[in-house]
Amino acid sequence: MTTDIVYLNGEFMPLAEARVPVLDRGFIFGDGVYEVVPVYSRNPFRLGEHLQRLQRSLDGIRLANPLRDEEWTKLILEIVARNSGEDQAVYFQVTRGVAPRAHEFPSAAKPTVFLMSNVMKTPPREQVDNGVPCITSNDFRWLKCDIKSVSLLGNCLAKQLAVDAGAVEAVMFRDGYLTEASASNVFVVRNGVLLAPPKNHLILPGITYDVVLELAHANRIPVETREIPEQEVKTAQEIWVTSSTKEVLAVTSLDGRPVGDGKPGPVFRRMHALYQEFKQTVMRRAA
Ligand code: PDD
Repeated sequence: MTTDIVYLNGEFMPLAEARVPVLDRGFIFGDGVYEVVPVYSRNPFRLGEHLQRLQRSLDGIRLANPLRDEEWTKLILEIVARNSGEDQAVYFQVTRGVAPRAHEFPSAAKPTVFLMSNVMKTPPREQVDNGVPCITSNDFRWLKCDIKSVSLLGNCLAKQLAVDAGAVEAVMFRDGYLTEASASNVFVVRNGVLLAPPKNHLILPGITYDVVLELAHANRIPVETREIPEQEVKTAQEIWVTSSTKEVLAVTSLDGRPVGDGKPGPVFRRMHALYQEFKQTVMRRAA
């Protein structure tokens, strides 16, 4: 559930009072970018990295950042303070602002800045212990998936295919190779080696993806970052999805067939424990 107070263009206000003009290019064209930052014990996790990715996304759509990092940080801390829940997920987005409808960029629009915070819902214990079902899908999105754009129709369509099939995520393939899932990155374990698709224009450079790779390196889990053919995913011993809100979650069935022995595998259990421990350490340091 969305809690009460949001921020819109310079003001904090109750969610029910926040209004955006219908000619906002976010509404008309999906012309904007966004971030989701997990907050544990009221401390934003990897905020610097999220702000860097926001800048990258803004550069990718040629929109000047309306705020400096210090200003973003202040707003994010304030939205956390004004909302309930020790653990929250802060959502923030920038659109190109309000202008008469024309595809080309307006010369003088003011970007729309919006922040809200939801109580953070990490996967329930049952999903962590048993894993989740996923389906596969063609990746029919555009070719700039590294931009965290609010134009998420392709992702929404893929997610709904998963939900229609009683699954949690759609694991996507483009030209026979793994890209990512509809709202998360994907890792695969084969013969004890953790495989990650390379960060390029075909996937979102996940902040959680980076944490997982750092933890793997630090704990001597063998890693290969390379293109992963569909067949290697379908015959993997383990498949994981990762995101700021899902953290690390095992996929235990794919298109109705068990992954490995149908239970979260040993490499997943190790990584899940490492991730939880890492989170605690970082948060203790921040407190
Ligand atoms: N989505 N790939 C896609 C397409 C995503 O939408 C997300 C996250 C990720 C993982 O990125 P990160 O680890 O930085 O959260 C990968 C967010 C959580 C969302 O849209 O709600």
